[in-house]
Amino acid sequence: MDKKEMDKIREEIKCFQAKTYEDLELFRIKFFGKKKGILTIFFKKLKEIPYKKRKNLGIIINELKKNVQDKIRYYQKINLIKNKTILKFDPTIPGKSIEIGSLHPISIVINRIIDIFKMIGFSYVEGPEIENDWHNFTALNIPIDHPSREMQDTFFLYKNPDILLRTHTSSVQIRYMKKHKPPFRVLSIGKVYRNETISSRSNFMFHQAEGFYIDKKVSFLDLKKIIQYLINSLFGESVKIRFRPSYFPFTEPSAEVDLYDKTGWVEVMGCGMIDPQVLKNVHINSETYSGFAFGMGVERLALLIYKINDIRIYFDNDIRFLKQFQSDFFY
Ligand code: DAH
Repeated sequence: MDKKEMDKIREEIKCFQAKTYEDLELFRIKFFGKKKGILTIFFKKLKEIPYKKRKNLGIIINELKKNVQDKIRYYQKINLIKNKTILKFDPTIPGKSIEIGSLHPISIVINRIIDIFKMIGFSYVEGPEIENDWHNFTALNIPIDHPSREMQDTFFLYKNPDILLRTHTSSVQIRYMKKHKPPFRVLSIGKVYRNETISSRSNFMFHQAEGFYIDKKVSFLDLKKIIQYLINSLFGESVKIRFRPSYFPFTEPSAEVDLYDKTGWVEVMGCGMIDPQVLKNVHINSETYSGFAFGMGVERLALLIYKINDIRIYFDNDIRFLKQFQSDFFY
């Protein structure tokens, strides 16, 4: 029990590192073991030493005892696993890299459309998916007994047929125009729902992008230019489109836009000049202001962009399909 021996022990305690629970247990026994523990023996010997010498030695041995206890407490706190040769969490072991996910193709196309319209000053808004009859139909010039209601087979949420899942994003036009004074240019994208049989071309839920622009002296030519700009931005300069006369209750005149896709013309969106009656419904003076609107299905556009032929694949959650869009992460 001389000073040299004490220093050696102090150093040993200081340098001790436990990798496993067993290491720690052996360390404890080495110093506190009932018969052969170093400190246990020291304390026994201490009693045999003359009182005067005992005091200083006692201080040193108590200090060593505290050092051992501190070490044990430290390793108990960091939680060594019993009977295992590794620490529960070892930050020094090289980790397995986590695979980066990818955006869903529908999200990629939605983000693209938003960017394309932001470039020409459209603001982006969203509307509710649960709507009432007035915003989804009546205010858009689709009265209760109008046959065009049947074009969009509706999910009603209650026995009360006033509350429904919106069948199109044109309802956002009404919500926005009610609250804002023209001029404005607005884009809205979101989910819409129709009670349709699931097939390669249709689903009960899909996404629509809706745009509208109201100002003094807005003309059909402005509409055509904007649609051309959108289609060229999405499909390149060489793509061919045509405007085909059509009918929508909320636009007059109305048109559908078709895109030529090798095998023939594919319908991609509806559009037209907003019917003055719709403007009246939201208290916008239709003598002073005019505007256009357009609406398109995002899934349909994505089919053409990615050359996919079955809409159901978007919602199958098949990782082999979804992985292919990783490189489009920042599109
Ligand atoms: N709401 C129409 C539909 O779901 C699409 C549409 C057509 C929107 C013409 C428009 C429009 O804004 O002007 O079939």
